[in-house]
Amino acid sequence: MKATQYVAREPGPDGIIHYSTEENAIWQTLIERQLACVAGRACDEYMDGLARLELPRDRIPQLDDINRILEPATGWQVSRVPALISFDRFFALLASKQFPVATFIRSRQELDYLQEPDIFHEIFGHCALLTNPAFARFTHTYGQLGREASPQDRGFLARLYWFTVEFGLLNTPAGRRIYGGGILSSPGETRYAFESPVPEFRPFDILDVLRTPYRIDIMQPIYYVIDSIDELFHIAEMDIMARVNEAKALGLFAPTFPPKQQQAS
Ligand SMILES: [Fe+2]
Repeated sequence: MKATQYVAREPGPDGIIHYSTEENAIWQTLIERQLACVAGRACDEYMDGLARLELPRDRIPQLDDINRILEPATGWQVSRVPALISFDRFFALLASKQFPVATFIRSRQELDYLQEPDIFHEIFGHCALLTNPAFARFTHTYGQLGREASPQDRGFLARLYWFTVEFGLLNTPAGRRIYGGGILSSPGETRYAFESPVPEFRPFDILDVLRTPYRIDIMQPIYYVIDSIDELFHIAEMDIMARVNEAKALGLFAPTFPPKQQQAS
């Protein structure tokens, strides 16, 4: 685990996390900005889930409020965790339909980008779609597989998660739409995925996805596009670990992005 400047907030004796005025104001800035940004760009299933969550604008929601919606919808819950957790814990939580949420919010200095997933990313980015049965099932399957996988296999599985749950797009009759929470919680990447001529949009192919390297600190040069949210059901039913073994035998594709050290110069 890497170091982080952030500390997840803990509930008081009343069971409630008391965020400061500034923390609630940061949430308000983020959610108002992002609601305007995702309209017409996020998929309908995400927008439906967002409507169901009825997220507050002026304060950070409590996890119990999210669970009251999620649990009856798909059996999922959110689970309070520290700012960074181990892969073992991450997969064990997903395997028991607990979505980890670190209960801190980014600082104003990191409003547009931070490496650690904060409560805005987890709730605004992911929880809306956890009301969707296909997305919920896929995420659960991913947790079950990851819990049993070797460190090397987890590296392959991480690419599947990255190009779906975090940076997935889907085709709709109205055009391409976003379902990945890494895009939906970032104003820059939400616009980039629609307006930039840079990224390449590839049809989802699980073997290709497992073989595609990525960097977490740049706008994505490649997105994989599914044809409907229900395709996630289909993917969850595949023999994913057999595809991981094929990907291992074939090796990774050459990166389409420059290595990190060259970028820094
Ligand atoms: Fe995420």
